[in-house]
Amino acid sequence: MKKSSKILLALVGLVVVLAIVYRAVNTAPSADLASSEQLLEIVDDGGCVLCHSANPDLPFYANWPVAKSLIGQHVKDGYASWDIMPFIEALNAGEAPNEVDLAKVERSLADGSMPLAQFYLVHWGSSITGAKEEIAMAAVKDLRAKYYPSPLAAPEFANEPVRPLPDSIAYDVRKAALGKVLYNDTRLSADGTVSCATCHNLDMGGVDNKRYSEGIGGQLGGVNAPTVYNACFNFVQFWDGRAATLAEQAGGPPLNPVEMGCSSFDEIVARLSDDKAFAKDFTAVYPEGLSQATITDAIAEYEKTLVTPNSAFDRYLKGEKDAMTAEQVEGYALFKEYNCATCHAGVNMGGLTYELMGQRDNYFEDRELTLKSGLTDGDNGRWAQTKVERDRYRFKTPTLRNVALTWPYYHDGSVNTLDEAVKKMAKFQVGREMSDDECGKVVSYLGALTGQFDGKTLTNVNDK
Ligand code: HEC
Ligand code: HEC
Ligand code: HEC
Repeated sequence: MKKSSKILLALVGLVVVLAIVYRAVNTAPSADLASSEQLLEIVDDGGCVLCHSANPDLPFYANWPVAKSLIGQHVKDGYASWDIMPFIEALNAGEAPNEVDLAKVERSLADGSMPLAQFYLVHWGSSITGAKEEIAMAAVKDLRAKYYPSPLAAPEFANEPVRPLPDSIAYDVRKAALGKVLYNDTRLSADGTVSCATCHNLDMGGVDNKRYSEGIGGQLGGVNAPTVYNACFNFVQFWDGRAATLAEQAGGPPLNPVEMGCSSFDEIVARLSDDKAFAKDFTAVYPEGLSQATITDAIAEYEKTLVTPNSAFDRYLKGEKDAMTAEQVEGYALFKEYNCATCHAGVNMGGLTYELMGQRDNYFEDRELTLKSGLTDGDNGRWAQTKVERDRYRFKTPTLRNVALTWPYYHDGSVNTLDEAVKKMAKFQVGREMSDDECGKVVSYLGALTGQFDGKTLTNVNDK
C-alpha cells in the first residue's frame, strides 16, 4: 500500500471512531423521566443557557484570547435575541411556560439551527439528534396540551403555535354597556372633541389609519395607535408595556396632554355628573359612583367585547377545509417556516412578549436611509420603562389579527403596505430575504386573519 493511501485509511478510521464516540456521548434523556424533565435535560445538554441568559457560567477557556471574542459575540447575540431563563424556571416550578417560548424551542430544535454548530463541535453531546428532536417535540406537544389546550381547533390543528380566537370572553353586560358609552364620549377630553373612538375607530380596524394619531388641538402623538380589537388578550398594554391592565391603560389617554388633555379625572367626573340621567344609570351599576377607578373599569369591561372570532383562518383551524384559499394555506406554511409564529403566537398572534426590533439586522439604521428623521423617544420601546439597556428597541409584539385593516404598520407607523411590513419582518427579524412570490402568499394569508364583529366580517371604511 502506498504511504498516502495508509494515511487516508487512518484518517477515515479516525473519523469513524470519532463518530461512534460522538454518538455514544450524545445520549437522549431516559424514557423514565416526565416529558418536561426530558426537555430540560435536552436544553441543559444543548448549552442553551450559556448563550441565552444574562449571567451564564461560561467554561474556563472562554477567557482565552480567540475564544473570548468568539464566545463573547455568541453570548451577546444569543442573549439579545432570546432569554431562556423564564422558560426553564417555569418548567422547573411546574408552571405554564410562555407560549412564545414554547414556539421558539420547538422551531429552533426542529430546524436544526440550535445549538450553533460552532458550539456542538466543541461540546460533544450537545447537538440535537433525531432521537432528541423527537422527544423534544413530544414534550412541547404535551406542554401545549396541558397549558394551552385548543378545544376549538380540529384534532390535526391542536398542536399549532397559533390558536383560534374564542367566540367571546366573559364580561359584565351592564358595565360593558356603560363602557361603550364612555368609549364614544368626547366628554373624556378637555375640549370635548376627542373620544377613544377618534383614534380607535371600530369601522377602521380599531385604529385611525394615521401614522401618528391626532389628539386635542390637532396635536400628534409619537407612536402609531395599535388596535383595540382583541387587546384584551395582550399580556400588557402599549408598545412599551407601561400599563398592566386594560383599566390601567384607559386611565392614560384622558390625562395625556397630546391626546385628550384633561387636567385630572375630577374634571371628567364633574362633567359626567352634570348629566343626571347618565350619572343615575352609572350609579345603578357602580354604587360607589363615578371615579377614575369605575370609569376605567367600565371601559375595560367594554373592551372585552371587542373580540373578532371566525376569521377564514380560524374557521380553517376549526376544520373548515375550504375556508382559506390554496394560496392562503401556502402562506400559513411559509409563515411558520419563516419563524413568524415564534413571536406572533397564541390566540392573538402577538401580545405575549417584548421582542427586539431588528433581531438580525439594524432596522433603525435602514429606516434612517429612507426617512432621515433620526431616532425618537418612541423608538426606545420597553427601555423607557425599565432603563435596562437590553430593553432598548424592544416592543410588545403586535397582534396580527385584522392586520389587513390596521395600516400603517410598526410602532413608528413608517410602513404603509402589508407587503413592505412582511418583507421587512423577514429581513430584520428572521434574517432572510423573502421573494415577491412568497411575500404575496404570506400577505394573502394575513388577509385571512380578518375576523367578525357583531356577526359581520370586519371591513375598513378607508379601504379603497
Ligand atoms: C454558542 C451560543 C449558543 C448556544 C449554545 C445556543 N444558542 Fe440559540 N442563538 C445563539 C445566537 C448567537 C442566536 C442569534 C441568531 C443567530 O446568530 O443564529 C441564537 C438564536 C436563537 C433563537 C432565535 C431567537 C429569535 O427569536 O430570533 C432561539 C429560539 C434559540 N437560539 C434557541 C436555542 C436553544 C433552544 C438552544 C439550546 C438547544 C440554543 N439556542 C443554544 C447562540 C446560541
Ligand atoms: C389621540 C389618540 C388616542 C386616543 C384619544 C386614545 N388612544 Fe388609545 N392609543 C393611542 C396610541 C397612539 C396608542 C399607543 C401608545 C403607546 O403604545 O405608547 C394607544 C394605545 C392603546 C391601547 C393599547 C393597545 C396595545 O396593543 O398595546 C389600548 C387598549 C387603547 N389605546 C385604548 C384606548 C382607550 C380605551 C381610549 C379612551 C379612554 C383611548 N385608547 C384613547 C391613541 C389614542
Ligand atoms: C423575533 C420576533 C418576531 C418575528 C420572528 C417576527 N415578528 Fe413581526 N413583529 C415583531 C415585532 C416586535 C413587531 C413590532 C415592530 C415595531 O413596531 O417596530 C412586529 C410587527 C409585525 C407587523 C406589523 C404589525 C402592526 O400592526 O404594526 C407585521 C405585519 C408582522 N410583524 C408580520 C411578521 C411576519 C410575516 C413575520 C415572519 C416573516 C414576522 N412578523 C416575524 C416581532 C416579530
